[in-house]
Amino acid sequence: MRKIGIFIMLIILILSACTNQQKPMNEEDRFIEDLLSQMTLAEKVGQLNQYTSRWEMTGPAPKGDEGAQSQLEQLKSGMVGSMLNVNGAEATRKAQQTVVENTRLGIPLIFGYDVIHGYKTMFPIPLAEAASWNPELAYLSSKIAAKEAAASGIHWTFSPMVDVGRDARWGRVMEGAGEDPYLGSVFARARVEGFQGDDLSDELSIAACAKHFAAYAFSESGRDYNSVEIGDETLQNIVLPPFKAASDAGVATFMNAFNTIQGMPATASSYLQRDLLKKQWAFEGFVVSDWNSIGEMIPHGAAADLKESAYRAIEGGSDMDMEARAYINHLEELVAEGKVDEAKITDAARRILRIKYRLGLFDDPYKYCNVENEKSMLYTAEHRDAARKVARESMVLLKNEKQLLPIASSVKSIAVIGPLANDKDSPIGNWRAQGEYDSAVSLLEGIQAAVGKSVTINYAEGCKLSIGKRTFPDKMTYNESDRSGFAKAIQAAKKSELVLLAIGEDCFQSGEGRSQTDIGLKGLQMELFNAIYKVNKNIVVVLMNGRPLAIPELVDKAPAILEAWHAGSEAGYAIADVLMGHYNPSGKLPMSFPRTVGQCPIYYNYKNTGRPQAEAPGQVLWSCFTDAPNTPLFPFGFGLSYTSFEYSDIVLDKTVMDENGTLTASIKVSNTGQLDGEEVVQLYIQDMAATYTRPVKELKGFEKVLIKAGETKVVTFALSKKELGYFYPCGKYVVEAGQFNLFVGGNSVELQQTQFVIQ
Ligand code: BGC
Repeated sequence: MRKIGIFIMLIILILSACTNQQKPMNEEDRFIEDLLSQMTLAEKVGQLNQYTSRWEMTGPAPKGDEGAQSQLEQLKSGMVGSMLNVNGAEATRKAQQTVVENTRLGIPLIFGYDVIHGYKTMFPIPLAEAASWNPELAYLSSKIAAKEAAASGIHWTFSPMVDVGRDARWGRVMEGAGEDPYLGSVFARARVEGFQGDDLSDELSIAACAKHFAAYAFSESGRDYNSVEIGDETLQNIVLPPFKAASDAGVATFMNAFNTIQGMPATASSYLQRDLLKKQWAFEGFVVSDWNSIGEMIPHGAAADLKESAYRAIEGGSDMDMEARAYINHLEELVAEGKVDEAKITDAARRILRIKYRLGLFDDPYKYCNVENEKSMLYTAEHRDAARKVARESMVLLKNEKQLLPIASSVKSIAVIGPLANDKDSPIGNWRAQGEYDSAVSLLEGIQAAVGKSVTINYAEGCKLSIGKRTFPDKMTYNESDRSGFAKAIQAAKKSELVLLAIGEDCFQSGEGRSQTDIGLKGLQMELFNAIYKVNKNIVVVLMNGRPLAIPELVDKAPAILEAWHAGSEAGYAIADVLMGHYNPSGKLPMSFPRTVGQCPIYYNYKNTGRPQAEAPGQVLWSCFTDAPNTPLFPFGFGLSYTSFEYSDIVLDKTVMDENGTLTASIKVSNTGQLDGEEVVQLYIQDMAATYTRPVKELKGFEKVLIKAGETKVVTFALSKKELGYFYPCGKYVVEAGQFNLFVGGNSVELQQTQFVIQ
């Protein structure tokens, strides 16, 4: 009996030795552990502290700086591990030198910056890029943005924002890839790979940051920073997948979020940051807080003071404190009181040092501070060409009646009208890094360049969209009364064969802190349209905006509409490429456009409910509105081309999928028009009956194919059983047996349909 006991003990010891086995230390680990062993607690805390430069701020200045040491002294005394908003090869070199030459261990700073859709060469806003359904373009724009930022001393971008956004009232939908977790995951991966390249230590790549972890886009009523009350099933299946994709792609950092989720501040969530991200997903990088999100736990009502905020954030797994001064002021004290285990601070410092090591900053802290690179690598002709290519592929043709587009060569006079027609600033978008004010090619310039002298251009602004100063972060005041430009615009329209009307949103109308309860056309824009429509019905509306707009009247009347978004530095040229037919539009909406703001949030992958559809519109006792349809104005995945595509029936290689099964679905897509064109072929599934209800459709694959006029191509999707499951609210992934619908088509509504079964 005793022998059996000893034997069992031995087995247990061997097993536990095996499971506790540490992975062998590599050179990176040895370097970091050695450095950590030399660091005092204060020095480790210093690594966790991030300050903005005082000369450029992207959030309200935090209180409590009064009487503190000057920023310079803090840098010299090793109290700062990272800075944001310092840019330029010289400025970064100066700050780096201050730290490297004055601190005891000379640990370099890591410089972070919001490089969201370009650094100096501006690309279309991320929502627009997602409309291309071409992740290679997001890869390209991120790569170029990284190159320019790196040449200007930046090590780290706070991008990509991978928040799935379903609510167009929320101004930050412009920064994401739209409403779908699958499309969002594909773009998350592409952007991370674009910024980071194959090797972080490459001089032309920078560290990326998946943000805002998590569920920030689900703020109630779309009001920025508001509480989030979604359930765990939505969290697991809709919110988290793009973050997981970014983590799998090797993203160096995560940023947490301002919001609470079911009462828990994301910044303090050890479920998200410790259990899920660092343990389950084995994320090796660090988590930075959002701007003062640690301090904001006080007004949230989650901490009595900054000390408690610091405690909750470090316990929750936030590694770096952006701008709250919580860690630098309270962590040492919390350790001394025995409330925080120093090991947690060591782990946070380790993660930050790891990314600095991978960037190569310990080899050469100044490697990115290269004035020559900065002079030659920014805003080059090659980068601007790329911006034009990305922009034109991001545009979505929403309507094209009367064959107004592409503009016929017989057209000899064009009126270019609208508050955004000659706006050289709005196309730059809200997050503009070092993109210069008024530096974009306007629509007027683009069309003039495209038509040359053979066509008469009659330009008139018509009206202003806003009045007064219009810079970040000023409040916009819309022009509700000044119609003095209407007469000239009407004249221009009268004497032209075709009108191009550029309306939509000012660049600072969407973006952070720009939530709106009205997402129609602001100011006098619709009135201007109507005035022009009276004298010339050949109107092509060019929309420039950062979010889906509720514009039913415009869509009803305007014969042609091109969604051009805020398209970046080369906007005007890119729009002209599309209008003239030099590029056949291929974009598809990454977010549903509502008919009215009252439908928000509106998204294609909704749940059916127990009372899905009224027999006739307006019937009561069904899950519908009595004054508007449930359907959107334009659905997810929608976009026209100058040619037309026809889909055959779907062919499945089998209709029953067994254990570890796979299935292929093929469809013939024919280009039935006169022009070559690209089509985004989309595949959706629906799990008909599940333990937790599933959406009416879920995107599971897409392919963008070029099909020549008259040609037919077969597009084949391979699905494996493991892709067809979902997460239970507890986070367990399951594939349930049962019947599935499978759909293929050119948008989320017009689809061919078939079925299969999982055994
Ligand atoms: C935003 C972040 C941004 C940070 C730094 C915050 O206000 O939410 O997305 O990266 O500021 O500028």
